This record gives sequence, structure tokens and C-alpha cells, in this order.
Amino acid sequence: MKILGIETSCDETAVAVVEGRKILSNIIASQGAVHAPFGGVVPEIASRHHIENLPAVLETALSKAQTRLSEIDVVAATYTPGLLPALLIGLQFGKALAFALKKPFIGVNHLEGHLNSVFLDDPLTPTLGSAPLAPQVPRALRLASHKGRGSDIDYPFLGFIVSGGHTHLYKVEAFGKYKLLGATRDDAAGEAFDKVAKLLGLGYPGGPRLDKIAQEGDPHAFRFTKPKLGDESLEFSFSGYKTAALLHVQKQNGNLSQNFVADLAASFQHAVTDFLIDRLSAAGRRHRLNNWVVTGGVAANKGLRQKLATFSKEAPCNLFLPPMELCTDNGAMIAYVGGEYGKRKKHSPLSLNAVAYSALAQ
Ligand code: KG4
Ligand code: ZN
Repeated sequence: MKILGIETSCDETAVAVVEGRKILSNIIASQGAVHAPFGGVVPEIASRHHIENLPAVLETALSKAQTRLSEIDVVAATYTPGLLPALLIGLQFGKALAFALKKPFIGVNHLEGHLNSVFLDDPLTPTLGSAPLAPQVPRALRLASHKGRGSDIDYPFLGFIVSGGHTHLYKVEAFGKYKLLGATRDDAAGEAFDKVAKLLGLGYPGGPRLDKIAQEGDPHAFRFTKPKLGDESLEFSFSGYKTAALLHVQKQNGNLSQNFVADLAASFQHAVTDFLIDRLSAAGRRHRLNNWVVTGGVAANKGLRQKLATFSKEAPCNLFLPPMELCTDNGAMIAYVGGEYGKRKKHSPLSLNAVAYSALAQ
């Protein structure tokens, strides 16, 4: 069964063709440069670019997958949560395609896509090539017995989404069965990364830029205090980290040296990633879950990946991380979830509407 997955919930125009766990193509047109002058994503501009980009992204995805449109069995598109004008474009594009092809349509929750991104085969093969990573940064982290293609992760597992819109911990009981265990009280982790990057003059998109410059800084140069939410709390808060970063920046009186920026980025990243891992292990202990899955844009953070790799060697848990390109928004994770619902014949009506905010819990 070949699934076409369409993702337009924010500023990436993404289309993928997936067969089971195998990614046949995964094309992403990033709008980073378009939104950079505004310091963040402008919803109407994002939607206008999705309209312009989608036909070419679709064509590229099909040709890379060596698949004709008529060979697609199911069309899946993100319908929630995200920026409403952006969601509407991909959703309507997907529904129109399904209607014209006379094939089933499946609306996918973006969060369910992230949580399941870890089931996809690692798309990297030596012939495709990839940006070289520092040797200590794992491309993907998998339990030894599950190494290689199509890893199976035993249910129930602890699913962590750390992205630009969410910092949410779930108990995943089975495919489609998600129980929310804890979430952020204020910003999402990715949002905090983006805002601190902006304070440091790193521009947009902030998270990956801060990650890069943090590699050059001293993670112990500045102290950040962990929020007082209780040791076993499964909630998150990032406003204190942002305020502390702002105060350090203000003390520089407008003169941010390269060393200062690198040290503050490294210290902020060190503190936030410690906090994320702290809560993850608290959730594992409290709910007696020892299979941990970490997904979402911030899971691409090199500092976090390094720490998780070290942590997992000693912790009583099996850690699973998708490869970096499957952490940030992509069409493959939407297609994978569409395929799972497709197998179960759980199709969506063509009247399905976009929903900006929604939880993922049943
Ligand atoms: O999952 P995602 O692509 O979109 C959402 O669903 O939100 O996550 C995007 C977020 C942004 O806030 C971005 O700055 C952050 O993930 N991000 C990173 C890194 N790569 C992406 N944050 C820190 N380090 C990174 N390497
Ligand atoms: Zn996302």
C-alpha cells in the first residue's frame, strides 16, 4: 500500500510517499528564508507559499519515489494542530487529490505523526549522503536488539514530543491510544529556543542556530535555575529560562560578543536539556515505562541527542530517537500514520475541517 503524506501545519511544505515503514521519498520545501525577516512564521504568508509550493513538491515526491499518482492507494494530510491558514491548504489539497483519484482520504493529527516517526525506517543510505555529524551525536538511537530496519518498539511506551508547539509526555498504550501524562505550563521547548536565539541576535529559525553556536560555548558559563514544580512533577515551564537569558543579555548593554553569545547559548541549552531529561526520567519512574521515545523538532538538538545517548547507557530504559531529519516536520510521519489507519479502514470524510488546537488523547 503506497501512502501519500502531506504536511503543511506550519512553515514546511512537505510531501512524502511511504510504503509501510519504508520511505520512498520525503520532500520538504522550507520557508525559513521567507519568514526570517519577520523573526517568526507569518501564518498568511505560510499559507500562500504552501499554495505555490505544493504542486512542485508533490511532483518531486512522486518522481523520487518512482511512483505515478495513479499508484497511490491512500492520501493522508495533517488536519490538526497547527496554524489554521497553513493547515487548510494541505488538507484541502489532500482531499481534492483523494477525490480525483477516487482513493480514501485520512486526516492525521500532527502530534500522532511525531510520536510515530520513530517507526519509520532510517532513510539514510550511503548513496543518499548526509551532512556529517560529530561522531558522538547519534543519527538515531535504537535498542541493540532492534537495530536496523523497521524497529519494533514494545507497547506501552513513554512518548515525548518536544517541538515548537508542544512539550508533551504521553503514555502510548498501542497505536492510536495516547494518554497525556504532562505538558508545559507556558512556552514549548522549541519556542523557548527560538526566543532565546532571537535575544542573542541569531535570527530565525532560532533553535538550530542556537544549537550550532552552543557547540562552541561553555555550558557552565552561566547558571540557570530549574523551575520549582516539584521533583516528581511531569509539568514543564520555560519562562524562567527565558527571563534569566534576557537578564544576562541586558547586562551586556547592547554589546554581545561572540564569546558571550556562544557561552549563553551553551549554558541555556545545557540547562534546558537537563530539565527535559529530568522530567522524562521522572515520567518513566512514575508510570513504570522503560521504553522511551523522544520526537519533535527539539529532538534534533545535538546537545540533547548527545546527553540522551550517554544517559541511555546507564539508565534503566530503552531509548529510541528518530534520525534528525524525521524529528522536524515532514510528510513521511503523516504518511506512516495514514497507512496505519488505512490498514484499519479508518478513513476520514471529505468534509473533514482543519482544527488549530487539539490534544492527542483517547
Ligand atoms: O517539530 P517541529 O519541526 O515543528 C513543530 O511541530 O513545532 O519543531 C520545530 C521547533 C522549532 O522551535 C525549532 O527551533 C526547534 O524545533 N528545533 C530545534 C532544533 N531543530 C529544530 N531546537 C533546538 N535545536 C535544534 N537543532
Ligand atoms: Zn511538528
